[in-house]
Amino acid sequence: MENDDIKYHRRKRYKGTHPKSFNDKYKELQPDKYVETIEHIIEKGNTPAGMHRPICVKEIIDFLQIKAGQKGLDATLGYGGHTLEMLKQLNHKGHIVAIDTDSIELPKTKERLENLGYGPKILTVKELNFKDVDYLSLDYGPFDFILADLGVSSMQIDDPNRGFSYKAEGPLDLRMNQSSGIPASIRLRELNQDEIEGMLKENSDEPYAAKIAAAIISEYKKGIHIDSTIQLQSIIKEALKFIPNEKRDEEIKKSCQRTFQALRIDINHEFEVLYEFLEKLPSILNNQGRVAILSFHSGEDRLVKKSFQHYFREGIYEEISVSPIRPSMDEQSSNSRARSAKLRWAIKK
Ligand SMILES: C[S@@+](CC[C@H](N)C(=O)[O-])C[C@H]1O[C@@H](n2cnc3c(N)ncnc32)[C@H](O)[C@@H]1O
Repeated sequence: MENDDIKYHRRKRYKGTHPKSFNDKYKELQPDKYVETIEHIIEKGNTPAGMHRPICVKEIIDFLQIKAGQKGLDATLGYGGHTLEMLKQLNHKGHIVAIDTDSIELPKTKERLENLGYGPKILTVKELNFKDVDYLSLDYGPFDFILADLGVSSMQIDDPNRGFSYKAEGPLDLRMNQSSGIPASIRLRELNQDEIEGMLKENSDEPYAAKIAAAIISEYKKGIHIDSTIQLQSIIKEALKFIPNEKRDEEIKKSCQRTFQALRIDINHEFEVLYEFLEKLPSILNNQGRVAILSFHSGEDRLVKKSFQHYFREGIYEEISVSPIRPSMDEQSSNSRARSAKLRWAIKK
């Protein structure tokens, strides 16, 4: 081969001291290599791109009371932060099954944990939606402890190619598993104005649901497809132009967050799968088994609370949390993503 055919690519440089785009943050995307950069970002209360900081770790570990030799399930593996802490408690005796529906992040986390010495003998990693946890029971259950840390991971939000954030240009997708279901851009087109309004109200209590739904439908009527995150963000901005100057930017930001959250809940069927998971929990828990669930918005927390109360009244759970545990003030100030977290727990009879 002629040398001319080999193109020399310069290593991508950091753009300035604070690169904004996900793909420019190459230091943050290699946490093992740039330890100091990562520590500095975390010290400032931020989460490095491509990483997820586990929330309420101490509270969860204190409650689960994991003992060497036990069997556990992490229903939402994510970056593996909680799984790692639970593995440490096992002290190399016992087993954890960790599942996640995200086929992009799962193999990376599996490799990271393997490199830390947690291979298949102690940890089984599987791509699975937690609505199907009963499939695990025959081979691995019943479990002595279970954790579910609901919602999305920082890796999912940060990666513009997945479309979870209104702040960065990307396809309007929002699927946690891109091999199932349909992207948000197609789902939106299937809904009429009333249905979009209903979805925004039901999933996110959006106060401007009617205005946003009308603006989306008016784009479709002009023959415009809404395929990108920034396009949807611009439509919301335009729809909320009537808000007085002094509070417009803040209101638009909140409405964008709520609209993207509502869409995410809808296309990933988040309430339905959580309901199924909660229904199946008692059958996969061992006697005296403990379950902890971390939720991030009122719709999720309500479902968890109702299910725990229901099975407590039925005598299936022996004890449940009376009110949710919140992250400490320290954690809330050092990790903004912890602010909305609520932890509930139950112990099976
Ligand atoms: C908040 S993150 C978990 C972070 C994790 N605890 C850690 O320490 O890195 C939530 C994870 O749950 C996953 N997830 C959401 N819904 C799921 C479902 N129905 N079944 C399985 N995994 C799900 C997401 O893909 C995401 O990776």
